[in-house]
Order: sequence, then structure tokens, then C-alpha cells
Amino acid sequence: MSVFYHEESREFHLTNGRISYILSILDNGEPGHIYFGKAVRDRASFAHLIEYSCRVMSPYCFPDRPSFSMDQLRQEYPNFGHGDLREPAYSVRRETGSTVSEFRCRSHRISRGKPKLPGLPATYTESDDEADTLELELFDEKTQASLTLTYTIFRDFDAVARSVRFENHGTQTLVLERAMSASIDFPDKDFEMIRLSGTWARERAVQRTALSGGIQRIYSRRGCSSAVHNPFLALVRPETTEYSGEAYGFSLVYSGNFLAQTEVDAFDVSRVMLGIHPDGFSWPLRPGESFTTPEAVAVYSDSGLSGMSGVFHHLYRSRLARGTWRDRPRPILINSWEAAYFDFDEEKLMDLARRAADVGIELFVLDDGWFGARTNDCAGLGDWWYNKERFPNGLGGFARRLKELGLDFGFWIEPEMVNADSELYRAHPDWIIRDPDRFPSLTRNQYVLDYSRPEVVAYIGDLIAAALRESKATYIKWDMNRSITECFSTALPPDEQGTVYHRYILGVYSLYERLTREFPNVLFESCASGGSRFDPGMLYYAPQGWTSDNTDAMQRVEIQYGTSFVYPVSSMGAHVSASPNHQLQRRSSLSARADVAVFGTFGYELDLTKLPQEELCEIAEQVAWMKQHRALMQFGDFYRLRSPFECAEAAWMTVSPDAREAVVGWYRFRQPASGKFTRVRLRGLDPDADYLVQPSGLVIGGDELMRIGLSTSDLPDEAPCDCKTKRFYLSMKE
Ligand code: DGJ
Repeated sequence: MSVFYHEESREFHLTNGRISYILSILDNGEPGHIYFGKAVRDRASFAHLIEYSCRVMSPYCFPDRPSFSMDQLRQEYPNFGHGDLREPAYSVRRETGSTVSEFRCRSHRISRGKPKLPGLPATYTESDDEADTLELELFDEKTQASLTLTYTIFRDFDAVARSVRFENHGTQTLVLERAMSASIDFPDKDFEMIRLSGTWARERAVQRTALSGGIQRIYSRRGCSSAVHNPFLALVRPETTEYSGEAYGFSLVYSGNFLAQTEVDAFDVSRVMLGIHPDGFSWPLRPGESFTTPEAVAVYSDSGLSGMSGVFHHLYRSRLARGTWRDRPRPILINSWEAAYFDFDEEKLMDLARRAADVGIELFVLDDGWFGARTNDCAGLGDWWYNKERFPNGLGGFARRLKELGLDFGFWIEPEMVNADSELYRAHPDWIIRDPDRFPSLTRNQYVLDYSRPEVVAYIGDLIAAALRESKATYIKWDMNRSITECFSTALPPDEQGTVYHRYILGVYSLYERLTREFPNVLFESCASGGSRFDPGMLYYAPQGWTSDNTDAMQRVEIQYGTSFVYPVSSMGAHVSASPNHQLQRRSSLSARADVAVFGTFGYELDLTKLPQEELCEIAEQVAWMKQHRALMQFGDFYRLRSPFECAEAAWMTVSPDAREAVVGWYRFRQPASGKFTRVRLRGLDPDADYLVQPSGLVIGGDELMRIGLSTSDLPDEAPCDCKTKRFYLSMKE
């Protein structure tokens, strides 16, 4: 891997031999985009790819060169104000009120490895030979500000990570009104855009639409990345399929308000950009201060969506997620929420725990309701000390009893929130995000704490740390159950109000950083009303996230399928819940529920004390199966085989890196009478090897399984039911 710099042509070529990213310094000193895609051989100049054109109505910046128009040239980090009339990537306001800026290349630096982003989550390297980084410094004379574009190319992943740092070297206060993380101009519009969109309980549904003239955007202005749109978009060719064709993936490593958009101009140039949403953002940059944007990751694959997702899975699993749990198979847990909701005391939970221990479960997660006056969702948030009536011997006493059963202990928190009915709110009513002149909206009876204030973050952090120490918990579920409204901080002056959304999420990150550092052995699982903040920023601190509150097996297939476009199986919290399901009231078999949940971090979320003995035996078998195969399930190579968004079936599989083992999941949503014969072609196997396929016991060649397929037609002895699932285990024959 390398970053080539060609002095004469002033071009940079980042390549790892499989992908190339090429940019140049244009004649006016601003950076121009040349190419991103499959690797091309390096050459002294790619200048012939820069197309100049003289168009009526296009502004130009040299008096004698009407063909040199920023409105026509493909750019790296476009501004607004001196020629480019498309959407800009940034905007800097001077004290005069002007937002016209001319940042010109002043210097560049090529280094090995990858620098950290201060206070922000980002991909990383473990040794300097894993990546090379180009930092391109641009400078604007009038504002005396610099803007540094940073590009990292990875040796092992077909991805380029970008971020931008603004620094004020002058004497006037500047205001950043827009600061996107990345922008790329593609020379054509022959693309379709894929996004992962939805809402609560149906997160990350795959949607694919053709690009057309104008702007298509996805965004969040909720203070969290949200279930409505994930901070991700892909541009694919119309002919791109799961396994063939070009796919570009763009993902923002950020958990707050974001914007990701494509703009097709009148000449069919497609501009894609992503970053912090400019609405509600305005950041004063005083003399000597700097601002760093979140990181955007751009992936290229010429082997379809599967290739793109594979890059994200490997990169995010190994060089975004961090800590003790990054590479470790995850504990099988029982979560108390759907088992008991708020209706419990220690003895009731001990009954649940005994059953859990009997079936081989390893971790007991105490969900909402253990603290303060929290016996329903109207009170207690903010008071992070145990409820003495429910736990007479504290969390520590409860955890010790669990330990005697062989269970580890974890607990739920929602540290960013407060109920009006709480000690915290009574003591500090000014600690919430609200405009004092307006009614503060409620969601689930709660307010959002003002995490732009370090004293608020510190107060909550001390309480959580004390609870962790007292209980010796090994797991935390960190929830977040409402959007930010009336965004205003009473602690900040008027000209800083545009910083609140971003400061808020920086506060969240700082608390995550503190707790993950002080408790390096604790496994963190992020959550936000299910999967409303399931994003790469969270993954940096919490290697797994609760994928959705929807635990209906068949709907979960869609949710996990969509989530897998970017996120690895090891990051997806997936539980077996009760039947009928609590969200949909739909019935499904215990085996169907497990067939979906094993493609995740796996656990149970139902009242085991209400199950008949034969179901407990079945659960014990499921747990034993998962213990044996969880390393494969969570860290194998994941392939999507059939899309639930295209037909009434879905299939996927995971294969060990050495191709010796694989597990295939097949799901049919509506079971027809006289079902047709069905087959699924597998992926990633060794074509020359033979595999023992269970449960059939047949030995089948890898070539046959991949070229002819695995039969998923119904076995004759199966009982009829609404939906049908199958799980196959394949092992290579010696
Ligand atoms: C929302 C989460 O998504 C649920 O799993 C559960 O933890 C509840 N909050 C508890 O209030």
C-alpha cells in the first residue's frame, strides 16, 4: 500500500493494489477529485482525466480561462461562494459576515499508520504498516484558517477513511456553519442509491432507488443517528447484484445528527457527501481553536454488495470495535426485560436465574427498574443507586447470589436521561436540554440531560462507576430512549447554541471513554429503543448493540439482513423471546426463534419459569449448540444468500475463515400449500472439499453446494406452520 505524490502534476494516488483513490491540486490551489475505484497502475499524471469545459452561465476564476470553473470541475472538498453552485461541503463565516473562502493547498504530509481523532470514535491501526495517511493542508489568507483533509488507505481493507480538521490561526472569531466529513464527485450518474431506513421495531430496511437529477438525502436531526435512516449510503451500478458489479459504501462514524446525500448536477456529475447535519450546527472557532469532523469511511467493491459488506464487517469488527471483548465470543445471556418488565423483586429474579443457570446460560442481565424509585417508566431515571426494597443487599448481594449459580451479572442504564420524578431532577432542574422559554417536550415521561456540560457527565459517570464497582458487573446495556427536542443549553452563551447537538454526543463519547477505560473487562452493549443508535460511532465503544426491540423471529430476519449491509454479526444483539411475540402477537416455534438469533450475539428474553420442561430441554440444547459454534457464528465470514426484501424467503450463512465449517440459515415467511422445490447456492466453501451436511447426514461436495445448491425443500415429516426455518451445519470431511 502506498501514497504516491507526483510533484510535477501535483497529484496524489492512494492505493493498496486493489483500490485507487486519486486527487490533484487544481491550478487555483484547491483540491480536485480524479478517481476512486478499482486499482489502476500509477502514472506521472492523470491530468487528462480533469475535464475543463466552457459552459454558458458557469462562473470562472481566472479572467483568461473561462473553462476553469469550479462549477464544472470535480472536487474533493467543495466550498460555496466562488464558483461552485452545487451543495458545498463546508462554510466558514468571517466577522464581516462573508462566507466566501478560498482554501488553497499549502502543504502535505504522508505518514505511516493512522492518527487518532481527538474525542471522536474512528477506525484505527495496531501497527504502522497497516495503513498510510495523507494530510493535505489548505490555507485561506483572508481568514488565516487552515483546513486539513486527512485520508487513510488500509493495507488489508478496501477502504479509505477521511476526516477534516479546521484550525483558526488568525485573530478573528470564525464560525463553521457546515463541515462535512467527506465529499466525492463521480463523473456519471449511472448509479442506484441504497439506504437502510425504517423506524422503531423495523430498523434498517434495504431501499434501493435510481439516482436522478437533484438531491436525494437521508439524515437525522434527532440528536442520535436514529432508526429512520442509518448513517450509511451505497452507490451501486444498476446491474450490481449481491455478488457482482461495483458497489461504493459510505459510512459515517458518528452517533449524532447527520446528513448523507447525493446530488446529480445538470451534467450528470454525482456528488456524494456525508457528515454532521448542518441544520442546528454552527461552531464558533476562536483564535487558536480547532475543530475535527467525524470520520467517513468509503469502501469500494467490484464483487457486489457482498464484497462491500465484507469490507465493512472485517474493518469494523477488527479496527473500529475495541477492547477485551472485541475478539471474544460473547456470553449467552438472559435479559429480564421481556421476562418481567418492571414487575420483579430479587426473589422473582432468582427464580428466573435458577432456570437460566440450569439450561447453561452464562450471564444474567438486569434490565430497567433496579434503581431509585423506578417501578414504572414515570420515575427514577437519573438516580443510579439500587432500590433497597427490591435488592435488600444491593446489586452486589444479588450478583453474589447469581455467582453461586455460576452466572455473571450485568445491568441496564439509561445515563443520558432523567425523569422529573427523581432526586436528580429535583436537585438540578437546569441540567436538562430545554429552551427555558418553551414547553419542554416529553417522550416516555423523560427529559434529555445536558451532556454538553462536563459536570453532568461527571456526576452520572461517578454513579455508574460506583454501581459497577459495587456489583462487579461484567456487562452493561446502555440505553437511550428519546430524541432531543428544544435543543438549547442554559450553560452556553447565545453564540454557542449551535454547538449543543455536537457537544452532546461528544459528552456521550467522553462518558463511554471513561467507563470503558476504568472497566476494561466490562462488555458494553449499546441500545436506543432497540436499534435507534446502531451506528459505527457506538461500535467503537460497545462491540455489540441491541439490534431492535422487535424480537419476532421473521421480522428480525429482515432487520438483521439489512443491518448486515454494514455491521458484523458479532455486533448484533439477538434474543429468543416469548411466543406469542410481545411486539406482534405472532406465534413461532422455539426452534425458529433460535434459528434467527444464533446469527447474532445470542441470548434469551422471556420468562423461563413459565416454560414447560420440554421447552427448557430444547433451550438447553440450543445453548449447548451455540456454545460450541459461537466463534464461527460471530467471527466467521457472513454471506447473504437470499433477500427477504425481494421474495418471501431469506437465507444467509457464515463460514469459518479456513472454510472447514459453515452454518446456513433459511427462512420462509409464508408457508404455501404444495410448496415448491427450493435450493440455495452457498458461498465461501472449498470447491474441492466434501462437507457433511447436518441434519440430513449427506456428504456433498463444496463445488456442488456452491454451483447446484443446497436443497431447502420441506422435509416430508415437518408439521405445517405459518413460517418455516432451517439451520444447516456443514463440516469438512477429512
Ligand atoms: C428500550 C430497550 O430497547 C428495551 O430493550 C428495554 O431495555 C427498555 N428500553 C427498558 O426500558
